[in-house]
Amino acid sequence: MGFHDLKDFLQRLKEEGELIEIEEELDPRYEIAAVLVKLGQQESPAALFKRVKGYDMPVAGNLLGSRKRLAIMFETTPENISEEYLKRKSRGIQPRLVSHAPVQEVIIKDNIDLASVLPILTFHDKDVGPYITQGLIFMKNPDTGANTVGVHRLQLKGKNRLGIQLVSRTSTEFFRRAEAKNRSLEIAIAIGVDPTLLLTAVTWFPFGDKLELAGGLGGSPLELAAGKTVGVDIPAHAMIVLEGEILPSVRETDGPFGESSGYYTTVQSPVVEIKAICHQKEPIFSVFKPWSIEDDLILDLSWTGEGFKKLKAEIPSLSALKLSWNASTALMSIKKSNEGEPRRALYLALMHNLYIKQAVVVDDDVDIYNPREVEWAIATRFQPHKDLVVIPGLEANPLDPSMEKGAIGSKLGIDATKPLGEEEKFRKIAPPLAAANKAGEILKKFSL
Ligand SMILES: Cc1cc2nc3c(=O)[nH]c(=O)nc-3n(C[C@H](O)[C@H](O)[C@H](O)COP(=O)(O)O)c2cc1C
Repeated sequence: MGFHDLKDFLQRLKEEGELIEIEEELDPRYEIAAVLVKLGQQESPAALFKRVKGYDMPVAGNLLGSRKRLAIMFETTPENISEEYLKRKSRGIQPRLVSHAPVQEVIIKDNIDLASVLPILTFHDKDVGPYITQGLIFMKNPDTGANTVGVHRLQLKGKNRLGIQLVSRTSTEFFRRAEAKNRSLEIAIAIGVDPTLLLTAVTWFPFGDKLELAGGLGGSPLELAAGKTVGVDIPAHAMIVLEGEILPSVRETDGPFGESSGYYTTVQSPVVEIKAICHQKEPIFSVFKPWSIEDDLILDLSWTGEGFKKLKAEIPSLSALKLSWNASTALMSIKKSNEGEPRRALYLALMHNLYIKQAVVVDDDVDIYNPREVEWAIATRFQPHKDLVVIPGLEANPLDPSMEKGAIGSKLGIDATKPLGEEEKFRKIAPPLAAANKAGEILKKFSL
């Protein structure tokens, strides 16, 4: 069950027609990213860049940028991805320590020079330089030894120096504890992993056991090996692992970098010193292109299932939830039984987390996966003077450049449900069911 490593997943994508292999030599500075920008605008195949200027190592990107590939990852159908995700997430499987790790086939400890080994991409015209965007940071709580893994962007700052963007709760807390003791925090950065481990890393799971979660999502124990220079276990089947430590009490300018918000961001970040580069004999480097459909799909998958479960407990009439655009918009459909229910759904969705900035609720005859239908519902069932909710003065997404000082912002809710008792006036036009079914059968022959 599951995929052994990134190469295994890429092979499967090739067989399924979900991978394009690019033979032209491309520069890691802008040229590869420019292809990923085009691919990342709609659901499109994963890409393997086989010839990277100045390097022997290929680069893979857009790995999870389509529902079909999310379904392949879970060996299910696109309609069932969210359900399968929740099923797998509910069963933790303990990791397993192994003595042989393919990722330790090559170990470099002396004269480390990250840029000479790794084809780290430069993405956007105003980026300060190259960034590792798909580094999975493994670390331990310095007090309890509990493990976590998250994806955190890393700016290349020197031969063995990286800036690290720590925003998420668990990793920030682990580093805060190390700093409080004036100690560095040892980490291992894995690059090029199987897709379920990648999904594990970006899953919001504050203080939960993410190594068990990796087993649950992948369907078998995550195989770990002891680090060579750090007391952190490393994923044995990663393509590359960088071992190092986050230095205490150091903050440096990180950016500008084109973020998942679609804007350049400059922050003050901690700094990592790298002690060892380990990699397989023929590794593949992998990347996320910020501000792409891949971002949206991953966040939708890892947040929607949980969100649906939580909201459904409060609003039993909720029939569907979709988080879109970097999880900033929550689309909901309900079968309302009173006029207060849509508003309750809006408030609950907006309070679900700080990233949700706008929520829209429609009736269950509207397909929330079809933007045209959602726009139609807003255009025909929503009156701004009475159906709009604005909540000012809330904590905002730190990446939202429109927020006010102190990361404060406001949220917006749209009730686009039809009034109760006016079903005939708001009936959707449609052919009779038998004719619609027949049409479906005919079009199926054309794969439509
Ligand atoms: C494409 C992508 C990039 C991300 N980059 C960062 C980042 O740079 N810094 C960060 O703190 N979180 C980032 N995240 C979110 C974390 O990976 C996520 O919150 C994860 O749960 C963090 O793990 P932790 O909760 O164990 O700290 C990113 C998520 C995605 C999908």
